[in-house]
Amino acid sequence: MKVIKVKNYDEMSEKARDIIVDKLKKIEKPVLGLATGSTPEGLYDRLIDLYKQGGTTFKDTTTFNLDEYVGLSKDNPQSYHYYMYHRFFKHIDIKDDHAHLPKGDAQNLKEECERYEQLIKDAGGVDLQLLGLGTNGHIAFNEPGTDFTSRTQVVDLTESTIEANSRFFERKEDVPTQAVTMGIESILESDEIIMLVSGESKADALSQVINGDITENCPATVLQKHKKVTVIADEAALQKVN
Ligand code: F6R
Repeated sequence: MKVIKVKNYDEMSEKARDIIVDKLKKIEKPVLGLATGSTPEGLYDRLIDLYKQGGTTFKDTTTFNLDEYVGLSKDNPQSYHYYMYHRFFKHIDIKDDHAHLPKGDAQNLKEECERYEQLIKDAGGVDLQLLGLGTNGHIAFNEPGTDFTSRTQVVDLTESTIEANSRFFERKEDVPTQAVTMGIESILESDEIIMLVSGESKADALSQVINGDITENCPATVLQKHKKVTVIADEAALQKVN
């Protein structure tokens, strides 16, 4: 695991942009794994800026997001479909049918999980997966205790995740209690992974990821097993790392 130490959120976002753009240049039909949340917002803004300046293109790129809340349609402003479209996809030249997220409002969620796995397979797998880190150590919505062999599935969100994500909702009661998420094994199949981490609230989880033992109690520690992981973290997030 390579750790790139940056000063702050802006530097983290710039570094991540550079790594992604470099990957896009090297691969003819790149497949990116994407995340939502606060962490990648600055990265998406920078990718949009670069695209608008003619510095990159997404016309041959396919994307797969990690997760979606169960029960929210793509038009719901709290859904990850809505987030991705409004914060990123509508500003760039990605083809509509190349930008994928699991459907949280599918009639049959089990079938939806299988369909999503198959789509990723058909695209040839993920070349570069972007991850954020939960304060409880989760990656995607794989909460502490998730089996490392998990595949895309429906999961219950923990109280701490519901609490952390309630900032995006009017009331805490509005936060869905379940999500469809790519599994840990599905994520580890990506050729390369970059994890972005910013802020003091992630310091405990990040110190476990870098210095701790590999344990299902902190799902992100599994990244120590992957052949090509780069963590880009700011000083605040790294304050508890030896
Ligand atoms: C989002 C996701 C989550 C977030 C994590 C950090 O698609 O998979 O694992 O990356 O909860 O969220 P933020 O960035 O809001 O701190």
